[in-house]
Amino acid sequence: PEQEVKKRKAEDAAEHKGYGKLILFGEHFVVYKKPALVGAVKAATVAEVELSDENTWSRGLIVEDARPAIPGYKDKKAGEMIESTRLVLKHFDLDSDKRGVKVILKGDLAPVSGIGASAANCVSVARALAAALGKDVDEDEINQAAYEGIDNTASTFGGVLRFQRTDGKPLFDKKKLPVEIPIVYASTGITASTTEVVGDVREKREKDAAWYEGLEKEYMEVFDAAEKAIEEGGEGLVKTFAELANRNHEILQKLSVSCKELDDLVETAKSAGALGAKMSGTGRGGLMFAICADEASQEAVAKALEGKAPQVWKTAFQ
Ligand code: MEV
Repeated sequence: PEQEVKKRKAEDAAEHKGYGKLILFGEHFVVYKKPALVGAVKAATVAEVELSDENTWSRGLIVEDARPAIPGYKDKKAGEMIESTRLVLKHFDLDSDKRGVKVILKGDLAPVSGIGASAANCVSVARALAAALGKDVDEDEINQAAYEGIDNTASTFGGVLRFQRTDGKPLFDKKKLPVEIPIVYASTGITASTTEVVGDVREKREKDAAWYEGLEKEYMEVFDAAEKAIEEGGEGLVKTFAELANRNHEILQKLSVSCKELDDLVETAKSAGALGAKMSGTGRGGLMFAICADEASQEAVAKALEGKAPQVWKTAFQ
C-alpha cells in the first residue's frame, strides 16, 4: 500500500491534479469544534500552465476554463477564481504583468457548491506552475500555495481528513481508507447561503441548548464509529459508512438543515439500491451523496437520481 500511495502521489504531481471533496460526516457540528471527516473524491481538476518568454506573447493572466459546465456556476465564480489564481501566482513570486501566464483548467470535476472546486483549482494550478517553473516542490508547499482552509488539504493529499476547529489553529489528521467507496453525488440545483444556515442553527442552539446537545451527542456516536471503522479497516467499511451516513442524515434532518429536495434524493438513492445516503455540506439545497456496493449499483442509483436531480456524478471516496 505504501508503494501504491507513492505511485499515486507521483501521478497527482505529474498530472497536476487537485481533488474535489465532500463532507463525509460532521457538517454544522464542526462549527462548534466537534471533529468532522472530509473525504477527497477521485474526480479532480487538472491544470496546464504556459509561461511566456520575454515578449513572445502579451503579458497578463489568461484563464481558459474548460471544466465541465454547470449552468450559472462558472460565470458567477469567475472573479473569485481569477483572484485565487493570482494568489497562487504570488506564492511563486510570479508577476503576470512581467511574464504572461496562461492557465487551462480541465479534468472531470464539475464545479458546484460543496465539492471544493475552488481549492481543487488552486491545487492543480499550484502543481502546474511548479512544473512550468521547473521547481521541485513537495505536497506541503502545494497545500500552502493553494491555501483555502480545509478544502485545499483534502484536494492536495487525497484520502480522508479528520478536521477539527479549536480556539487556535485547526487540527488536521490525514487518514487512508482501506478500500475505495463508490459513490454517486447529486446537486439539488439550489444554492443556500452557508452564513444564513449556520446563523439559523446558532439561533436554535441558543434557544434550546438541551435539544442541540442531544443531537451533538448522537452525532459524536456516528463520528466515533466512523473513525473506529477506518482504524479497523477491511471490506466491512463500506457498509458501516453507509449505515453511518443514514444516521448522520437523520441527525441533520432533526437539526433542520436538510430540506424536501435533499430528502427526496436520499430516498430515491436508497430505493434504487444505495447502501446509505446523506446530504453533504451546508444543506437546505446543495449536495447529497449515496454510498453504493459496486459499479452496477452505482449505475442504477445514478440513473434513478438523474430523473430527479439537475446534476448527478459517479466517483468514489479514495
Ligand atoms: C459548510 O460546507 C460546512 C458547514 O459545517 C459550515 C462550516 O463548517 O463552516 C455547514
